Amino acid sequence: MTYVDVQVRHLEGFAETLLKCNHLYHPNSDSIALLNAVNSRRQIEIFDYGRSADAFTRAFGMRNSLKCLRALSSLGGAIHQYERVCDLGCGSGAFSLAFAYLADNPDLELRGLDASESQLLLSRELMSTAGLPGRFAFERRNLPAQIGYLPDLTIASYWFCENDHVITNPALFDLMVGREMLIVDYEKIIERIAICLPRGFRILARNSALVEIPAALTNFVAQEWASVYSIHIGRTAD
Ligand SMILES: C[S@@+](CC[C@H](N)C(=O)[O-])C[C@H]1O[C@@H](n2cnc3c(N)ncnc32)[C@H](O)[C@@H]1O
Repeated sequence: MTYVDVQVRHLEGFAETLLKCNHLYHPNSDSIALLNAVNSRRQIEIFDYGRSADAFTRAFGMRNSLKCLRALSSLGGAIHQYERVCDLGCGSGAFSLAFAYLADNPDLELRGLDASESQLLLSRELMSTAGLPGRFAFERRNLPAQIGYLPDLTIASYWFCENDHVITNPALFDLMVGREMLIVDYEKIIERIAICLPRGFRILARNSALVEIPAALTNFVAQEWASVYSIHIGRTAD
């Protein structure tokens, strides 16, 4: 099977998982208004999740999850080896869902951390509806903070754009990164992370790609293609 065939198969299978959770993703008037407002402003936004977690998930949840799935596919078969995974700023579970789907690992222990209880309620509901293998816990946490253990892999999508002071503060950055970290974010944030990477870390891979939105999801994702930028970093031996 070619690389493209594998990508298409992953996307189609993942679309089925997303559709299983469609009650969380159906657009409504609030999510359409949010999407239109964000598109018209064309800038990096910081949302009020206390008020708009539900609208955010309906407007961006599926699209973000598809982007994360695409970024994760660059890990190849190694994805099955990460058991302790931490999703920073997990929101309504976009990255967690994509990771658990691709990892397909009953030994996975995935922990999502977020400051917004409204987002966490959605992430718990999402993962319980999806019924993917692994153990999942979603906890309220103001980050950056001590996590208490070193995850095999830390994942974060669109968290650094809301916390860009962490990029330029080596001590805070160190606090947030596991043995490895995979970040999905805006192109300019990924660029900044690459440029500011503190001593003790190295770039394992950096990718950009276009994701074709599966036809089955076009009612939920108001675009045919989405671009994704990611960086995979690791700790150096010394
Ligand atoms: C843009 S959303 C992204 C959510 C999800 N990762 C995704 O890709 O859809 C950013 C999330 O990070 C959380 N967040 C932002 N700053 C935070 C902080 N300092 N501590 C904890 N959570 C934070 C927000 O509550 C929100 O759920």
